[in-house]
Amino acid sequence: MYTHLQRDQSRPPVTLSTLARMKADGEKIASLTCYDASFAVLLDLADVDVVLVGDSLGMVIQGHHTTVPVTMDHVVYHSAAVARGLHRPFLIADLPFMSYPSRDLALEHSVRLMQEGGAQMVKLESGGKQTDIVEFLAGHDIAVCAHIGLKPQSVHKTGGFRVQGRERETAARLLDEAQRLEAAGADMVLLECIPAALGKSITQALHVPVIGIGAGPDTDGQILVTYDMLDITTGRKPRFVRNFMEGARDNLDAIQRYVRAVKSREYPAKDHCF
Ligand code: KIV
Repeated sequence: MYTHLQRDQSRPPVTLSTLARMKADGEKIASLTCYDASFAVLLDLADVDVVLVGDSLGMVIQGHHTTVPVTMDHVVYHSAAVARGLHRPFLIADLPFMSYPSRDLALEHSVRLMQEGGAQMVKLESGGKQTDIVEFLAGHDIAVCAHIGLKPQSVHKTGGFRVQGRERETAARLLDEAQRLEAAGADMVLLECIPAALGKSITQALHVPVIGIGAGPDTDGQILVTYDMLDITTGRKPRFVRNFMEGARDNLDAIQRYVRAVKSREYPAKDHCF
């Protein structure tokens, strides 16, 4: 009854149990962002484990300077398109700016991401203030990823896209927040732009899988914005981005190279870390 719709029995879909096992076994989790069905098919073929419909779509798809203008309708639209192209990867969708100011709105919007967008997990940019929202969603059996470190939805308040946790007090606060969010029921933590040493201590302190972007080599998995690693985005790239199109035959080959580099721990190298 539970398996009659599975398309390819040799490639069972990635679940939270798969990701927990990967963390326990030390197998790195390869993740990428995605915004449409065509790229979703490529990511699936390349055996990417986790796919994120990130609100970075506001920047790479819509051409905004920040993620702030992204709305629930935008994420639902892109998530539904991505879900149609995926079979194996675990699908996460972002709760966009101000879609989770209260527990009830966070629940209503998470339900939309899952029912209309096909997401299996929702991600929210979190700090101490979001702990009760994470607890509320987890209490309704919604899988939650808590995003800490650099939080792009807060750039107008924090003063820009800057590495977080360089000072001892902010590093201690981030470690404390990560542990509180896990205790509140977060099933995954995403760390953005923090020193590699802090990425390592948070990953070691948590039981749930930790995915990093610019958080060093020791997180349980890595994620990049697909348009960055395929060198589609122009201009200066963040330090942690590697161009996987270099030497690749095509997009699929580049994505496969990324998955291999993450699994073999060749990416991220020292040059990609803070
Ligand atoms: O929106 C996004 O793409 C993200 C990644 C930067 C992890 O949150």
